[in-house]
Amino acid sequence: MKYFLMNQQEAEEVLAEKSLTIAVIGQGRMGLPISVVFLEAGYKVIGVDVNPLLVEKATKGEIQLVGEPGVEEGIKKGVTEGRYFCTLSHEDAIKQADIIIIIIPLIVDEDKKPDLTPLTNLMDQIGSVLEKGQIVITETTLPIGTSEEIFKPILEEKSGLTAGNDFGLGFSPERTYSGRVIEDVTVRYPKIVGGINRKSTERMAMFYETFVQKGTIKMSSAKAAEAVKVFKGVYRDINIAIANEFAKLSEGMKLNFYEIRDAVNSEPFGNIMLPGAGVGGHCIPVYPHFLIENASKIGLDLNLVKTGRVTNASMAKHVIEKAEKGLALFHRKLSDSKIVILGLAYRGNVKEHRYSPSLEIIKLLKKIKANVILNDPFYEEEEIEKEIGIKFQKDTKTSLEKADCIIILTDHDEYKNMSLEEVDQLARKPYVIVDTRNIWKKDKQEFTENRLLLKIGI
Ligand SMILES: NC(=O)c1ccc[n+]([C@@H]2O[C@H](COP(=O)([O-])OP(=O)(O)OC[C@H]3O[C@@H](n4cnc5c(N)ncnc54)[C@H](O)[C@@H]3O)[C@@H](O)[C@H]2O)c1
Repeated sequence: MKYFLMNQQEAEEVLAEKSLTIAVIGQGRMGLPISVVFLEAGYKVIGVDVNPLLVEKATKGEIQLVGEPGVEEGIKKGVTEGRYFCTLSHEDAIKQADIIIIIIPLIVDEDKKPDLTPLTNLMDQIGSVLEKGQIVITETTLPIGTSEEIFKPILEEKSGLTAGNDFGLGFSPERTYSGRVIEDVTVRYPKIVGGINRKSTERMAMFYETFVQKGTIKMSSAKAAEAVKVFKGVYRDINIAIANEFAKLSEGMKLNFYEIRDAVNSEPFGNIMLPGAGVGGHCIPVYPHFLIENASKIGLDLNLVKTGRVTNASMAKHVIEKAEKGLALFHRKLSDSKIVILGLAYRGNVKEHRYSPSLEIIKLLKKIKANVILNDPFYEEEEIEKEIGIKFQKDTKTSLEKADCIIILTDHDEYKNMSLEEVDQLARKPYVIVDTRNIWKKDKQEFTENRLLLKIGI
């Protein structure tokens, strides 16, 4: 008998003995660290991925995940102890599992609608081999209602079983920040759990409580659990949008946004975020579209959410315009200048660039046929040339040589550790820097004989 159908005492025993097998479908930036969390808790883990190279490396314990502490060692240890292996076969993994965890990406299509096809295909595959007593938990962020309204009917139809009765089904979001996933899951936050019925929620909570120090928050439904993650992401997107509007207003009114922000945030109700070139990663810029889709189905127009997206997306153009105006002061044009982009990743010290504002900025600069060099110490030349098709220079200092305009888009430590004087030595004087991450904390726009330093919000 499998975990979901065991009586309370049996379930407590298998959790105490850690004699359960967990299938983790998706072995990417999130799937690998959560596999390590389950391994460290003492469970056996079968990773599943569609990427043959990744599967081959993971099975040998030779995985590489830049900037995610504990993962490479954790997988290696799991392999050595015979408690981890990775496969391309969903069927093999699901057949052996007590708990099936799904952590593959869900993105939006060209019309900005969530494309559920990879997940519904996966549910088809799971449903056709699902057995009584298994429990299926999605950790990928979902539009509200997906587990109950879309996944449940597929799994029931394919398996001939009844969700909540024969097998468990629920949602538990990954509330993590890449770069510290293991710590976030095990130490930092309580785990949100929401099943399609009470029994599913209870069994999910019992499992997570064996390794999450802050315990679980049991939601009244899978829907409510799905809403937690989407609401949080959208809340953040809108707050960044208002920071971006304040920054543009400050620029226009010759105010220093950062001075005002510090003063506002000196009281507890003030929490203005930082402005920038936009919002990246496959979470924050995507989740508003999940909510917009949810709202449209009940005839509601989420104007604020839509405007937040438009505002944040407009920042790429704003950055280019700033660079353009700066260069014009030196009687130069973007199209005949050497422009160096510092940072492809959407956030400092990570190697992740999905929906990164850098991509949009590169696209706009390519349109005007500018001479652009991209630098990001986290990437290799082959990766960039293949995927982005732009000149790349891995060594930061070399990339800055004879630059006319430098646009800083990511606050990697390597950039933060560089002084303006060091940059002066390398660039073609006078030059323009657009520092969108406020790396060099200056009170005002700085115009010296060597350079013009521009920021968002000043
Ligand atoms: N990255 C983050 O910071 C973050 C934070 C919180 C939550 N999340 C959630 O995690 C999800 C996954 O993010 P990620 O960063 O791990 O993505 P990722 O792209 O790094 O990894 C996804 C992995 O899933 C594999 N995959 C895709 N389809 C598959 C299938 N049908 N079967 C098996 N494997 C499949 C891919 O080959 C890839 O290795 C996101 O969509 C989001 O909902 C991500």
